Amino acid sequence: MGKIKISPSLLSVDVGNIERDVKLLEPVTDFFHIDVMDGHFVPNLGFGVFMVTGLRKVTDMTLDVHLMIEKPSKYIEPFIKAGADIVTVHVEVDDDILGCLKKIKEMGKLAGLALNPDTDPEKLRPYLEYTDMVLQMTVFPGFGGQSMVEDAIKNISVIRSMIGDKMLEVDGGITADNVHILTKEGADVIVSGSGIFKYDDIADATVKLREKAVGGQK
Ligand code: DX5
Ligand code: ZN
Repeated sequence: MGKIKISPSLLSVDVGNIERDVKLLEPVTDFFHIDVMDGHFVPNLGFGVFMVTGLRKVTDMTLDVHLMIEKPSKYIEPFIKAGADIVTVHVEVDDDILGCLKKIKEMGKLAGLALNPDTDPEKLRPYLEYTDMVLQMTVFPGFGGQSMVEDAIKNISVIRSMIGDKMLEVDGGITADNVHILTKEGADVIVSGSGIFKYDDIADATVKLREKAVGGQK
């Protein structure tokens, strides 16, 4: 388990002030998390390639792109050309998952593989050689501001034992009050949307989230 990394989910940002908020968070965060949804894999729409293009112009930080879409293979290249640093695809999709992961790595970026709260971590195993980061969803994907699905927590230690010291990201319903549970189990990349952006002082909220996350590792 590595050093804690924080990845604020921009799904909850005030879009009219996105550059201001990115600048406020730059000194206190590690990544920025960008949720891409197609209205098919999940019942909602999210950001597209345009968001990564726009963010790349205003920040040099790691852009962590979460593809909640049915056919990720079509979009790997456009997202990476736009400036994505980590691209994560879901293991549940009916697409060439291995091809996606290989393409991401060929293009010199980090390949992530995500699973929903009710997906068996064993499904990851055939792909782990080409995976740099596993993303355990701690809610059913599609919307910010949901409560954590407790059942997903038990997967974290299982995945940690499968992936050695690779990154293990968690996403959904994470706040300063519950993050320690996840980092104790072995999570080391923390996504939080409403748990950061609901506060007036988003930088302070991020610092506190990190402190609690690090506390859980001890
Ligand atoms: C959910 C997205 C998350 C979401 C998290 O489908 O993948 O990244 O923005 O939001 P919170 O932290 O509010 O649950
Ligand atoms: Zn996400």
